[in-house]
Amino acid sequence: MTRISITVDGVRYDDDVEARTLLVHHLRDRLGKVGTVVGCDTSNCGACTVLMAGDAVKSCNVLAVQADGTEIITIEGLAGGDGSLHPVQQAFHDRHALQCGFCTPGMILAAVDLLAENPDPSDAEIREGIEGNLCRCTGYQNIVRAVRDAASALRGAQVAEPASAVDGQMPGTPQAPPAVPSEPESVPVEAVPRPVP
Ligand code: FES
Ligand code: FES
Repeated sequence: MTRISITVDGVRYDDDVEARTLLVHHLRDRLGKVGTVVGCDTSNCGACTVLMAGDAVKSCNVLAVQADGTEIITIEGLAGGDGSLHPVQQAFHDRHALQCGFCTPGMILAAVDLLAENPDPSDAEIREGIEGNLCRCTGYQNIVRAVRDAASALRGAQVAEPASAVDGQMPGTPQAPPAVPSEPESVPVEAVPRPVP
């Protein structure tokens, strides 16, 4: 076992992990971050995407020990501390950029990374930026529209700051209440009504 300390969604966690433990399994099984989902477990689909040190990574392709000392943002920590949706989340909601929603957490985080690197991408650049994230439902059209809208919003709006980390609790336990409730409804995929065909 190896001792690691990672900050996830603004909360620091100290834990002992096996060297073989994947980050996605640590997030889901140990820390309860089930908004990060497993689609393939072979680094193909992007459903498990999180932000690690600001960069989108497929967490099924990262060992938990490799995340030691880093800051992780999952879909559950993307909204502002006041509960307001991140502009990318809001745009996915407004554009109905999902159907089943399984790809959505990873797709949103990939888009956040894309827009951090390229605030004004063309549609071609958006498609290239999210090419590592597969969607079996939408045909991608509304996803591209949502990312385009989010880019505009981010260029013109200030994003609410995530809740800050709090230090000083026992190792192996969350050091502060989660910044955002982790109930399923906090993942923005289930609140969106489906259009009538
Ligand atoms: S579950 Fe990680 S890329 Fe598919
Ligand atoms: S996989 Fe169903 S909405 Fe993308």
